[in-house]
Amino acid sequence: METTLKHSSRGEIENARQSSSIGLIIRQKEPTNLETPFDQLYSFLTPTELFYVRSHFPAPKLDLASYQLRIDGAVRNPSSLSYKELREMPSETQVAVLECAGNSRVFLVPQVEGAQWELGAVGNAEWTGVPLSALLERAGMEEDACEVVLEGADRGTPKEKPIPPGTISYARSLPRDKAIQREVLIAYQMNGRDLPQDHGYPVRAIVPGHYGMASVKWLTRIHAVREPFQGYWQTSDYGYWDYLEGKPVRRALGEMKLKSEIARPTVYETLEPNQVYTVSGAAWAGETEVTEVAVSTDGGQTWAEAEFLDPVQRHAWRRWKFEWLTPKEPGQYTLLARAKDAKGGVQPDKHDQNYETYVINHPLPIQVFVGPKNG
Ligand code: MTE
Repeated sequence: METTLKHSSRGEIENARQSSSIGLIIRQKEPTNLETPFDQLYSFLTPTELFYVRSHFPAPKLDLASYQLRIDGAVRNPSSLSYKELREMPSETQVAVLECAGNSRVFLVPQVEGAQWELGAVGNAEWTGVPLSALLERAGMEEDACEVVLEGADRGTPKEKPIPPGTISYARSLPRDKAIQREVLIAYQMNGRDLPQDHGYPVRAIVPGHYGMASVKWLTRIHAVREPFQGYWQTSDYGYWDYLEGKPVRRALGEMKLKSEIARPTVYETLEPNQVYTVSGAAWAGETEVTEVAVSTDGGQTWAEAEFLDPVQRHAWRRWKFEWLTPKEPGQYTLLARAKDAKGGVQPDKHDQNYETYVINHPLPIQVFVGPKNG
C-alpha cells in the first residue's frame, strides 16, 4: 500500500531533517537541493530564503556585463539581448506556484530512488520579468514553429537512464500554445528582488501552471523549433507513459496536477486530546482553480470542508485551515486533505504508476498521535 509514510520512528524523521542554517532541509549539498520546511507555511508568499532549490548541476556563475540571451531557430529575426536590454523592456509581475514533479516522493511505498522530498519541494512566489510572448513577437516566430526550447547555462552528467555520453545542458521545450501565453515570464526578480544564484540568477523562465522542471534557470537561449523536441529532460527524465491505442508512448511532463498538502500538524506530531487544533495547509492546481478542500481525520472515512485563507488567484496557491476538535481517546490518527477544482476534478485516491516517481498528488497521510505530550 502506498499511503503510509515510510519513516518508522520519530527519531528517523528528525535525522532526515538535517537543516541548513537558514532553515532549509538539505537533500543534497552539491548540486544544491534544498527543501522548504512546509510546516513553516505562515504567509501567502514563500520567503525567498525558505524557497526550495532543485538543481541538477552546479549553479553556473553568469556575469551580468557579458550576459546574453539568444533567441533563434524558427524565427525571422534571430538576435541576442543583453541583461540591460531585457530590463528595459516592459515587465509584468505575477504570483505562481512552483512544484517539483518529484515533490512528496518519500510518500511512495515501496521506497523509490531519487531525492526523498517530503512536502516542501513546492513554493509560491512573486515573479517579475518580460513575457516570453513579447520576446517571441520581437523575434518573429515562424508560423510553423511548434515548440520553444528553453536552455540553461548549467552543464553536467545526468542520472536517469539512458544517459547520453559527455556533459549536457539543462533544456526543455514548451508547446507553442503555452509559450505564447502572457503568463510565461522570462524573469529576473523573485519576491521583489533580483533572483538569487540558486534560483537562476540573472534570468530564468517561469512557466505558471507547469511543474517546476519547465521553469528553466540560468536561461541563455530561447530556440523555436519545427519538430517536437525530444531532449533528455523530457524523455529520459521528467517524462511519463501515456497510451496511444493501447500502446505505451513517452510524453513530457507538463501541467501540474491538483494537490493539497497539510502543513500543520506534521508527521508523528503529538496533539493534546479534546482540544481545538487548527489543521492548515495549501492547495494548488495547474491550469484551473482550486475550489474546495476537504479534510479527513480518520484516514479517509469521513471528510469535512476546510476554510480558505486566500482567494482564487490563477496559478497561485490557496492556503486553507480546518478546526479539529481532537478526540478524547488517545491513539494514532491519520489526517488527509483532498482538493477539488473548477473543472470538477478531484485528487486521485492513489499514485498513478504511469508517472513512475513523479506526480505524487494523491492525498498524503499525516499520522499524528493524540495523547499527553510527554507520554
Ligand atoms: N533549470 C536549470 N537550468 N537547471 C536545473 O537543474 N531544475 C528544474 C527547474 N529549472 C533546473 C532548472 C527543476 S526540476 C525545478 S523543480 C525548478 O527549476 C526548481 O526551481 P528552484 O530551484 O528555483 O526552486
